[in-house]
Amino acid sequence: MKGLILSGGHGVRLRPLTYSQQKQLIPIANKPILFYCIQDLIDAGIHSIGIVVGPNKEQVISEVTAQDWDAEFEFITQDRPGGLAHAVKISQQFLGDDRFVMYLGDNILLGGIKGFVDDFRRSDAKASLLLTKVDHPEQYGVALVNEQGKVILQLLEKPKNPPSNLCIVGIYCLTPEIFEAIESIKPSWRGELEITDALHWLILQGRSVTYDLVSGWWKDTGKPEDLIDANRLVLDALPGMNGNGACLENVKNSTVSGRCRIGKNTVIKDGSVIRGPVIIGDDCIISNTYLGPYTSIGNSSVLSNTEIEDSIIMEGAAISNTERIVESLIGKNVTIERDGRLPAGSKFVIGDNSNVTI
Ligand code: G1P
Repeated sequence: MKGLILSGGHGVRLRPLTYSQQKQLIPIANKPILFYCIQDLIDAGIHSIGIVVGPNKEQVISEVTAQDWDAEFEFITQDRPGGLAHAVKISQQFLGDDRFVMYLGDNILLGGIKGFVDDFRRSDAKASLLLTKVDHPEQYGVALVNEQGKVILQLLEKPKNPPSNLCIVGIYCLTPEIFEAIESIKPSWRGELEITDALHWLILQGRSVTYDLVSGWWKDTGKPEDLIDANRLVLDALPGMNGNGACLENVKNSTVSGRCRIGKNTVIKDGSVIRGPVIIGDDCIISNTYLGPYTSIGNSSVLSNTEIEDSIIMEGAAISNTERIVESLIGKNVTIERDGRLPAGSKFVIGDNSNVTI
């Protein structure tokens, strides 16, 4: 089987971060979301992976190819936001006659996809979807199912009156029959070729479309609060964290407790308190600082006299003398400081579409 990861899109709801960064490259527990998808495919035995790229494609290509993966990649350019089915259509040459797994590169799932993919390998279904119960099914693709046969009876994209609370997770097992289906559908009201409509077409033709239910948690990381939430969930589940981190000798006059992972050459000093789950990247200096649960600090960050909890701080941050920072998403190379000069007051240099809550 092959893999197809979608890593395009403008990430409008994640501005301003997505002005400079492709949304699938935003880190969760210091690792781009996209890398979790790639690893899930490899762990499911898939080693030939197409990645559909759009804006910032050079960024995606260089980040992926800079790593050592047990997989080969082909990058496929999508020149316009034509929808998920359009992304599949332009990948037909790469996919050929193989069955494949399509994985939306901003989705993150606990526990991987091996069981789901193995079930599909053994079955003769024409497609299989991962479903999960959600509170607001109208925001997703929705499935009406027959629980006995584990088959899907109807699929609707963001229906006003959802026939069930089972939403389509962004990971699909597909066969080449999907190409015929895509040729047979028309763009939706949002002007996109919807994979949900193509799958519904298969069902109408009497072809078998089955499903598995997600057993752990799943997140579609479209909005800032989803990223903070995904960071909590990943840090909660991150295995093999050592209570004192990797560089105990660099922890000076400070306390590190709970599950913490501390990167190379990172120094923690001057009465700092680190209370896990926390991940800190390489080459950071943390002095007289409290880092509370569910915090990720990117490489080369310098933090002093500050407190941070429940947040994602990307690489190169310089944060000093601030009040406690909570539930925040802070991009690369950001400076936040209290300099004590008069007139006192907050001074901002922030990009378009930023969000500041004081
Ligand atoms: C897409 C699919 C939708 C699915 C969702 C999962 O929605 O169209 O059926 O439930 O991904 O993340 P979109 O993110 O394009 O709104």
